[in-house]
Amino acid sequence: DLAQDLAGRHVVVSAGGTREPLDPVRFLGNRSSGKQGYALARCAAARGARVTLVAANAALPDPAGVDVVPVGTAVQLREAVLKAAADADAVVMAAAVADFRPETYAAGKIKKKDGEEPAPIALVRNPDILAEIAGERPRPGQVIVGFAAETDAVLANGRAKLARKGCDLLVVNEVGERKTFGAEENEAVVLGADGSETPVPHGPKEALADTVWDLVARRLV
Ligand code: C5P
Repeated sequence: DLAQDLAGRHVVVSAGGTREPLDPVRFLGNRSSGKQGYALARCAAARGARVTLVAANAALPDPAGVDVVPVGTAVQLREAVLKAAADADAVVMAAAVADFRPETYAAGKIKKKDGEEPAPIALVRNPDILAEIAGERPRPGQVIVGFAAETDAVLANGRAKLARKGCDLLVVNEVGERKTFGAEENEAVVLGADGSETPVPHGPKEALADTVWDLVARRLV
């Protein structure tokens, strides 16, 4: 039954955008709404999968029948994804993970002082969760999917990123002002490590989600 082609499978989806705190009231964040990741989780559940949705700061209702693990930062997202990935058949990293976080966290609110210039914010690298999972393959035969938002040379940059990350599939979006972030619709090309290229025309995020699961399902052993 095609409609239940993910029955008996465990899939992990990350969604939303991480927030990297500077002090108790401030963070560095991004514009990811979480809608694409939530659509992926809903579609996988509809196709019979057990779904763990690691949700970073998404102001969206929990999808029915999905295990939602809320996280804030990239470090928390890494822990939650690695834990869930241990027995997962597929991991789809749709979350926008901050590449950097502030080097220090101020336990009290950072104050402005009269006549003083603001202190620069020093950043350190966050772990690359996608590259780590794709490299380690916590479970043999696991299918690993990444997302990439590119503003130019979309396909060339996408191919390079797919190779660098070592994932099986990379969903490449063209982003720019008004495009993709927070929108209900999306347009993408899904690149495969096998050289395949699957264009997904402008449409609802559910349509892209179903194409991703089609491509994942045929790679599952
Ligand atoms: O390198 P870039 O941020 O463009 O890669 C995007 C892909 O890598 C997404 O799938 C995102 O979830 C994942 N990523 C990650 N850990 C990071 C940065 C990105 O897993 N620190």
